[in-house]
Parts: sequence; C-alpha cells; structure tokens
Amino acid sequence: MPGAAGVLLVLLLTGGLAGGGAQRPEQRQLQAHQQRGLFPAVLNLASNALITTNATCGEKGPEMYCKLVEHVPGQPVRNPQCRICNQNSSNPYQRHPITNAIDGKNTWWQSPSIKNGIEYHYVTITLDLQQV
Ligand SMILES: *[C@@H]1O[C@H](CO)[C@@H](O)[C@H](O)[C@H]1NC(C)=O
Ligand SMILES: *[C@@H]1O[C@H](CO)[C@@H](O)[C@H](O)[C@H]1NC(C)=O
Repeated sequence: MPGAAGVLLVLLLTGGLAGGGAQRPEQRQLQAHQQRGLFPAVLNLASNALITTNATCGEKGPEMYCKLVEHVPGQPVRNPQCRICNQNSSNPYQRHPITNAIDGKNTWWQSPSIKNGIEYHYVTITLDLQQV
C-alpha cells in the first residue's frame, strides 16, 4: 500500500521539525560548534603584564605549609606533606613569587598560610596588562 507509507513518512518529518524546545544532541553539538567558531584566537594578555601582590608565602622568612592529603576513613592518617617556602631561598622550589602566576611555566604563586593572621585571609593581586 504506497498510500500508507506516504502518510507515515509525512508524520515522521513533521514530528522531527515540530520537535518543540527539546533539541536532539546533534543539534546542540552543532550549535556548540558554531558558537566556538565565534571566539577569537587565544592570546596571552598577561605576557607583558606587571603583577604584584601584597602577600606571598615565605616573604618574611622560611614558612612551613602542609598540603591537604587524602584521608581514607579507617586508615591511619598518612604523613601530611609539609614543605617550606622561603622567598630568599637559593632553592627555586622554595620560592613562589607572584610572577610565577603569569610566566607560562609550570610553577605557582603561593599565598602565606592563613594561620599567620587575619590579614592573610584576604590577599590582593594586581595585574597591570599595560594596554593603555
Ligand atoms: C631577603 O634578602 C634580602 C636581600 O638580600 C634582604 O634584604 C631581606 O632582609 C631578606 N629577607 C628575609 C626575610 O630574610
Ligand atoms: C592585602 O590587601 C587586602 C585588601 O586591601 C587586605 O584585606 C589584606 O589584609 C592585605 N593582606 C596583607 C597580608 O596585608
């Protein structure tokens, strides 16, 4: 019966077009692709920037900090991983200056521990992009 097959095809087509708000995953993916196409090329604005902060770990002498390590309930607590930061150290692994935050290398800036006082609960970082 060719007539019945024709009716079925028309129903499937209209069902697909009039799908309302529910989008199929392929449609959402397509939109995501189109949106990604609108982003400009990635550009590192911080490469010439000046960066300063008002607090860095180890700036007033050697300071110990401990990393939070995973604790499995019922297991003895493993040795916490404690390290020293010291801005004046000859060992670069103990220095975590704010310039590390934008140098593109795999190093980091570190704030002082909050146990040093209430003023260390807030730290200001200023990034001057030198664009004007
Ligand atoms: C770090 O070194 C500088 C220059 O040598 C010195 O002026 C400063 O007092 C030192 N700071 C600490 C905390 O040792
Ligand atoms: C750094 O600046 C912020 C904001 O001005 C202030 O709240 C904070 O206490 C300062 N931290 C230190 C260590 O001076």
